[in-house]
Amino acid sequence: MDRRRVCVLMVLWVMAHLSSPGHGLRALRRTTGGHKGAAGLTGQDANGVPLRRSKRGWMWNQFFLLEEYTGSDMQYVGKLHSDSDRGDGNTRYVLTGEGAGSLFRIDEKSGDIHATKRLDREEKAYYILRAKAVNRFTNEALEGESEFIIKIHDINDNEPRFTKDPYMARVPEMSDIGTSVIQVTAADADDATYGNSARVVYSILEGQPYFSVDPETGLIKTALPGMDREVKENYQVVIQAKDMAGQMGGLSGTTTVSITLADVNDNPPRFAKTVYEFRVPESSDIGSAVGVIRAMDNDIGENAEMEYRIIGSDGPGMFDVTTNRSTQEGVILLRK
Ligand SMILES: *[C@@H]1O[C@H](CO)[C@@H](O)[C@H](O)[C@H]1NC(C)=O
Repeated sequence: MDRRRVCVLMVLWVMAHLSSPGHGLRALRRTTGGHKGAAGLTGQDANGVPLRRSKRGWMWNQFFLLEEYTGSDMQYVGKLHSDSDRGDGNTRYVLTGEGAGSLFRIDEKSGDIHATKRLDREEKAYYILRAKAVNRFTNEALEGESEFIIKIHDINDNEPRFTKDPYMARVPEMSDIGTSVIQVTAADADDATYGNSARVVYSILEGQPYFSVDPETGLIKTALPGMDREVKENYQVVIQAKDMAGQMGGLSGTTTVSITLADVNDNPPRFAKTVYEFRVPESSDIGSAVGVIRAMDNDIGENAEMEYRIIGSDGPGMFDVTTNRSTQEGVILLRK
């Protein structure tokens, strides 16, 4: 029994140390907007953002600040406080590190920290600073220097952007419903680890009912059976990406996907006439052309390349047929 309790206590001790990086932090404590010294486990900073609190006597080592603050006064970041500060005006707080004195200004008497201008999380997500408390008159250190972080909180100030515009894609005509065509992707510069500001949902603005898009993956698929290239070959599909998981108020971006139906050999060749008549002068040389026939095919490319054959004749062996490759015509030749 006793042994188990010792284990539990050790785990607690380890956790307490893990959650407080740096040394000598215990004596420095942050109090936030009016919640001075409360021993509760949760609190709020100046922006109403909930914070994790630890027991009294522990130092806050992280401050939160909303990016793109538009207020006219300086934005309140938080307060540094040392236990050795008895409020007699002997303590002077000193701030050093990233942005100290420029972006972040500390009231050396009260320990209040303000931001002097608006900050963009997508430019820099956090600042590492150090704090010291010294005796105002002797400069003697009252607290060892300790590090803390000002973290910039994300707001949804970036719209999703597609990696391409336009996309080009091909899919065989007459494909089954649900045949994959292409996957589109939009990136969002907002914080993907916080809220839904970077959570993108895809939808199709133009191109229905022929195509559909998967809201999560951006994969475009065919949505209608029997799409015939010989009827319509090109489709302009407009895809939207919207953050905030697609909810109202989310920011959006669009892209165009140009989809071409690729030919499949779904049309037989057809002769324009059922009977062709040619006259052959008696003096014609063997191998000379007697006439030209032509079959039309609505397909394209190799699906429209012709090969002619004689399958029946009154005078067997009298004629040959070859294909003119550039015109796809059949050339009837005299053979004997
Ligand atoms: C194919 O037809 C074209 C156009 O009529 C002609 O100029 C060409 O000589 C023909 N080629 C052959 C191999 O007969």
